[in-house]
Amino acid sequence: MNIIDGKAFAEKIREKVKSQVKILKQNHNIVPGLAVVLVGEDPASKVYVKNKGIQTKNVGMNSFEYKLDEKVDETKLLDLVKKLNDDPNVHGILCQLPLPKHLNEDMIINTIKPDKDVDGFHISNVGLLNTGQKSMVPCTPLGCLMLLREFVGNLEGKKATVIGRSNIVGKPMFNLLLSENCTVTVVHSKTKNIEEICINSDILVAAVGRPNFVKSSWVKPGSVIIDVGINRISIEENGETKAKLVGDVDFENCSKVANGITPVPGGVGPMTISCLLANTLVACCRSNNIKEPQELTL
Ligand code: GUN
Repeated sequence: MNIIDGKAFAEKIREKVKSQVKILKQNHNIVPGLAVVLVGEDPASKVYVKNKGIQTKNVGMNSFEYKLDEKVDETKLLDLVKKLNDDPNVHGILCQLPLPKHLNEDMIINTIKPDKDVDGFHISNVGLLNTGQKSMVPCTPLGCLMLLREFVGNLEGKKATVIGRSNIVGKPMFNLLLSENCTVTVVHSKTKNIEEICINSDILVAAVGRPNFVKSSWVKPGSVIIDVGINRISIEENGETKAKLVGDVDFENCSKVANGITPVPGGVGPMTISCLLANTLVACCRSNNIKEPQELTL
């Protein structure tokens, strides 16, 4: 069994982004800029946004952060998005999800200029990906695909199962694997006999948001598992209750059956931020009619 080291691979991508940012500055006097909008006080979102800001600056890009009150008016948020759409120093815009309930998430995402939609959530990017055209690709599935290409190599003809059907991971993951000529099945909470489908799969991508959902009896010997889940659970250790981060896969037992598996933490998570930086660089190149670095896109 091999542990797929997403942390190390993510670091390699960041180094590539960093050197391309340097070249952009030297040759064109352009600095890519990423704007991140955070609404409210969700603790997990605050941590992600903080990390995104740090890593954006670490690769030499400009980071613009906007923190809005939980109760912000929808018009005010839309006005901010429109202002960022028109700002030539901003090449990527990300609105951290989930948004508070009173805001129309779809409308806000679809107000972001598609060329600056580094999350790849705008309906035109979704459509482009779905029809196999050049688009901004959602960061987490893009990170999963990069890990699979690196670890498995050619994915053609592989049987892949995506567990979960979210717009953020499951659906774009399905499209990406299909583009690689995999035979793809999507399973979800209402699927009957998930185990039977999973056990025949060469590749499993788990993105359901339920701790230890995938059991070792579902895993085909020699297969590869990508665990997208980030679940905070409480465990008892020496009479103390402790918080622990676990994925959607029972790592301890599944790792005995699979050939490769991503850990949590240190697997897909770091890849997501690296892919966000790569997407921002690509968006910056495209908006300036500069050839984008091929190794940072699909
Ligand atoms: N919340 C959880 N994952 C994501 C993501 O990839 N992008 C945004 N904008 N919000 C998220």
